[in-house]
Amino acid sequence: MAFHHLLVTGGAGFIGANFVHHWCRRYPQDRLVVLDALTYAGNYQTLAPLAGQANFRFVQGDINDQRLVNEILEQEAITAVVHFAAESHVDRSILGPVACVQTNVVGTFNLLECFRQYWLQQGQADQFRFLHISTDEVFGSLAPTDPAFTETTAYAPNSPYSASKAGSDHLVRSYFHTYGLPTLITNCSNNYGPYHFPEKLIPLMCINILQGKPLPIYGDGQNVRDWLYVEDHCRALETVLRQGQPGERYNIGGNNEVKNLDLVYLLCQLMDELAPQLPVRPCQQLITFVKDRPGHDRRYAIDASKIRRELGWEPQVTVETGLRKTVQWYLDNEDWWRPLLSAEYQAYYQQAYDLDPK
Ligand code: NAD
Ligand code: TYD
Repeated sequence: MAFHHLLVTGGAGFIGANFVHHWCRRYPQDRLVVLDALTYAGNYQTLAPLAGQANFRFVQGDINDQRLVNEILEQEAITAVVHFAAESHVDRSILGPVACVQTNVVGTFNLLECFRQYWLQQGQADQFRFLHISTDEVFGSLAPTDPAFTETTAYAPNSPYSASKAGSDHLVRSYFHTYGLPTLITNCSNNYGPYHFPEKLIPLMCINILQGKPLPIYGDGQNVRDWLYVEDHCRALETVLRQGQPGERYNIGGNNEVKNLDLVYLLCQLMDELAPQLPVRPCQQLITFVKDRPGHDRRYAIDASKIRRELGWEPQVTVETGLRKTVQWYLDNEDWWRPLLSAEYQAYYQQAYDLDPK
């Protein structure tokens, strides 16, 4: 099914912005409205190239603002909400969980309720969708030989971040079962690629290597994540939005389980190869083991067979290709990331790592 008037929340963040660019390339005739509060993680610069386009509108605002959300839904005759807006960083959620609950749980509730009222006014028509973007972290932690998470794995969130995402998933599910609102939920593994905020593992390592700073590995570095190139995620979301069955959920993953330490070694090799000048070479000398994250989940792994079987989606980018592209992107786009290393970021860094950020 085609949806021509999209509201994308959190569209100035990492995945949201990649999705907006993806959608504008694929469907240039569609109307796309981004609602984003521009928190520390939101960056209008990522969307600036779209600013002049007649079909694109950016609204700075909070998903908790009922009046604003109602106004956008009605004025823009929205047919699909694609909901990315969230506080997305586990470490920040540990340092201060309030914002996480306010945006991820209360904000999602507000958006759902506004969309439900609006949808009722449209006669509960079928050609509307609410796509909620969630995470594999809601399923908790796996032992080394456990099978990967499926859509029926029980929720067992371990951090304030994952608990707040789990809460929002439950609300979305309830709006389908109780009110028949045509919702879709996706639970995706760790993404990487362009426009990723510097606090997350892969950009943090790339940027620290370029600055000759220590590469902080939590605990023993043996935690496993399943990495997915962000463009593959965007294609999966497009597929779910257009072909997914309302009320269903779909797991999305890269089939790329990698231990953190191995991933950082790979990044170091790529940087040694691709960066013309590095303050420290070989850069793996910068690897530093630091205090573990409290409650650090050991392993995530996604079984993405349902979306492959039912909707025909598969990841196309291998971790080798995706990491190479990502490292090259950070090398080519210092103008994008350098301004993000603000005083606020330095203060966060100091608090989170107890290291001298220089
Ligand atoms: P991000 O932190 O890069 O971006 C979040 C965006 O939401 C920012 O632009 C921010 O300004 C905006 N935002 C925050 N609070 C808001 C509010 N109250 N109102 C309006 N806008 C607000 O996050 P991301 O990595 O792009 O993740 C996007 C979504 O995907 C999140 O819901 C996250 O849980 C989910 N997800 C992320 C990953 C990943 O690896 N990054 C994996 C699976 C799922
Ligand atoms: P992150 O990018 O924060 O994603 P998530 O916690 O949502 O999976 O972290 C990915 C993995 O890397 C996770 O196991 C924590 C680890 N990590 C480090 O070892 N050092 C770091 O500085 C960061 C940010 C993460």
